[in-house]
Amino acid sequence: MINVALPKGRLGDQVYRMLAEAGYRCDEMLDKKTRKLVFENAEHTVRYFQVKPTDVGVYVERGAADVGIAGRDILLEYEPDVYELLDLGIGKCRMCIAGFPDFHDDTDRPLRVATKFPHIARAYYEELGRDIDIIKLHGSIELAPILKLSDVICDIVETGSTLKENNLVVHEEVVPVSARFIANKVSYQFAHEEILRMKNALAERRGK
Ligand code: PRP
Repeated sequence: MINVALPKGRLGDQVYRMLAEAGYRCDEMLDKKTRKLVFENAEHTVRYFQVKPTDVGVYVERGAADVGIAGRDILLEYEPDVYELLDLGIGKCRMCIAGFPDFHDDTDRPLRVATKFPHIARAYYEELGRDIDIIKLHGSIELAPILKLSDVICDIVETGSTLKENNLVVHEEVVPVSARFIANKVSYQFAHEEILRMKNALAERRGK
């Protein structure tokens, strides 16, 4: 039995479809009304857990799941000790610094950066040698500059419509992001064949 941590939401649904087509079906997963969190298909030797996207790395690092799917943003932010086996080529977006188009950085004081990703933001500005003041938020990050809570934001940009509708623009790109297939280090030794079979099945369905 291979235990798979899937991120709840659209990315998880997409990855599940790739796996189902590859022979890892578990029809119960398709029932959108269910509140179940564990889905098992003994015949296909697979068990899925639906977890918060930010928690996938924790489940996989600690071996509660053998493998999982996590965005590169989550991996860079939390740095779980796992193997990254495959770029799935989906869930593509960009981690960016954004703010008002006419923003001018006053280097006499620390730059106030609102973000859900303090570790990524800190590393980015450290490299630039720029002092910052992190304002950690959990959502609706774009509100921060509008309400003058921050000077800029460090956040995910996918279609760009949230920025546009709030009169904000991208200032700099920090890093490109996409979904990654990750594995627990011990499971990778002991369930090597099963994990590789799943990885190859996903690789084959990339971009289909
Ligand atoms: C994410 C991100 C941006 C938005 C970007 O937020 O934090 O706000 O999506 O997408 P776009 O470029 O396609 O507009 P999410 O929807 O996860 O909600 P949140 O504000 O609760 O974090």
